[in-house]
Amino acid sequence: MLHIHDLAKRYGDSAVFSQVSLTLGAGEFVALVGESGVGKSTLLNCIAGLDRADAGRIVLAGTDLATLDDDGCARLRRVHVGFVFQAFHVLPHLPVVENIALPLWLAGQPRRAGLERAEAALAAVGLQGLGGRWPAQLSGGQLQRVAIARAVVHGPQLILADEPTGNLDPATAGVVLEVLRRQVRETGATCLLVTHSVAAAALADRTLRLTPAGIVGAAP
Ligand SMILES: Nc1ncnc2c1ncn2[C@@H]1O[C@H](COP(=O)(O)OP(=O)(O)OP(=O)(O)O)[C@@H](O)[C@H]1O
Ligand SMILES: [Mg+2]
Repeated sequence: MLHIHDLAKRYGDSAVFSQVSLTLGAGEFVALVGESGVGKSTLLNCIAGLDRADAGRIVLAGTDLATLDDDGCARLRRVHVGFVFQAFHVLPHLPVVENIALPLWLAGQPRRAGLERAEAALAAVGLQGLGGRWPAQLSGGQLQRVAIARAVVHGPQLILADEPTGNLDPATAGVVLEVLRRQVRETGATCLLVTHSVAAAALADRTLRLTPAGIVGAAP
């Protein structure tokens, strides 16, 4: 589903990481850990085509990202990738259901069909009936579930989650992680979850550690 070979990334003169290689199969739920600043978010951004690596290859759903321009990356992302950000990135001036429908509309789906799928995605994360609310009227845990619903509404093959529970108390974090876990199980998507939480990593099929010299794998 995702192959990364010898990826390297630098900002100016300073290398973030090099020799990063990993392969994720369909349906895998994999945790990515590593010290703050080691480049976990940078790696996710490169996988999503939001940032460019300096060397190495990323093959996502059979496509080498190096062969795509920025528009091509955006199209690939809209079809195959769902991104859950740490800080939600929910748009405050759109009702909750429209936040979730937005990726579908951007991909060209009709307005009504988008809203219907968004309502279904909202129900799947346990928030049925809250679609008409403004984001400011939801709790942090509810907002993070909205972010998950938005990331999976288009049925992506790959879900990238960058510390989705970083802002939440442990109990709420547990609920959010379980929602993410179930979404992955039910859709058969692959999930790469960046986390500092031991509890979150324990939910994963296997855990990878990012270091400046590459990925150190841990057995399933
Ligand atoms: N736009 C940028 N310009 C220069 N340096 C950057 C830029 N973005 C990130 N960096 C640097 O790259 C390194 C990796 O950052 P990144 O955000 O990927 O780390 P991280 O592993 O996600 O850390 P955390 O666990 O704190 O979220 C850091 O040293 C950071 O300061
Ligand atoms: Mg980060």
